[in-house]
Amino acid sequence: MAKIGVVIPAAGQGKRMGVGCNKQFLTLMGHPILARVIKLFEDSEYVSEIVIVGAVNDIPVIQELVQSYKFDKVLPICIGGVQRQDSVRAGVQALSTTIQRVVVHDGARPLLTLREFNRFMEETEKFSAAIMGIPLKDTVKRIDTSGKVLETPPREFLRAVQTPQIFDRGILAEAHHQAASVGYYGTDDATLLEWIGYPVHIVEGSQENIKVTTPDDLWLAERILAMRDE
Ligand code: CTP
Ligand code: MG
Repeated sequence: MAKIGVVIPAAGQGKRMGVGCNKQFLTLMGHPILARVIKLFEDSEYVSEIVIVGAVNDIPVIQELVQSYKFDKVLPICIGGVQRQDSVRAGVQALSTTIQRVVVHDGARPLLTLREFNRFMEETEKFSAAIMGIPLKDTVKRIDTSGKVLETPPREFLRAVQTPQIFDRGILAEAHHQAASVGYYGTDDATLLEWIGYPVHIVEGSQENIKVTTPDDLWLAERILAMRDE
């Protein structure tokens, strides 16, 4: 089996959360969001090593968190960049040379379960690039800048995309390299592969795998965890 490394981009500022610190240090049912994310991969048999990408000022706090939870797959914390994409690129470069496949998972998605992750790993084994996504509940419209509706893409062919996303390391590194060399930015890593014309496969995600983004997500995340009876 290919050796798998995980890159956790956690170098954002959490502006939409509006708490004045990195949202990933907020606790949910007693544990920091970032600790919950790391623990999932520590517990997974698929994963050999983990790179956390943090903002320069957050490095000491992240180091302390890793030590206090005794996470032992975690490599030295990597310094992030201005955009998420820059952070992921740095994280991929920091992985050991023996790592052949890379999972990217947001530091702000603490509700992915080991069971869902294992299912993702099984379903994506045969693909060089694969991501999680869920069907949309709402109808989506494409609009112009004035707010005029241009079209309504058929909902059955739309997915809201999540992480984890998994890639063969070579193609992910190549896509990041090409994007960086011309300053192309996409909102997730799969977009970069699409941009260089590489096929990306999608498998069913989980409604509970939310990205903690705004204050109401904290409430929702707590409710989901409480339901799981942790
Ligand atoms: N991220 C990162 N490096 C950046 C920006 C974001 O590693 N330069 C990470 C975040 O820490 C987060 C993930 O990418 O785990 C998804 O980003 P998002 O939810 O947008 O988090 P923030 O950028 O921190 O939040 P905001 O956009 O509200 O400022
Ligand atoms: Mg952001």
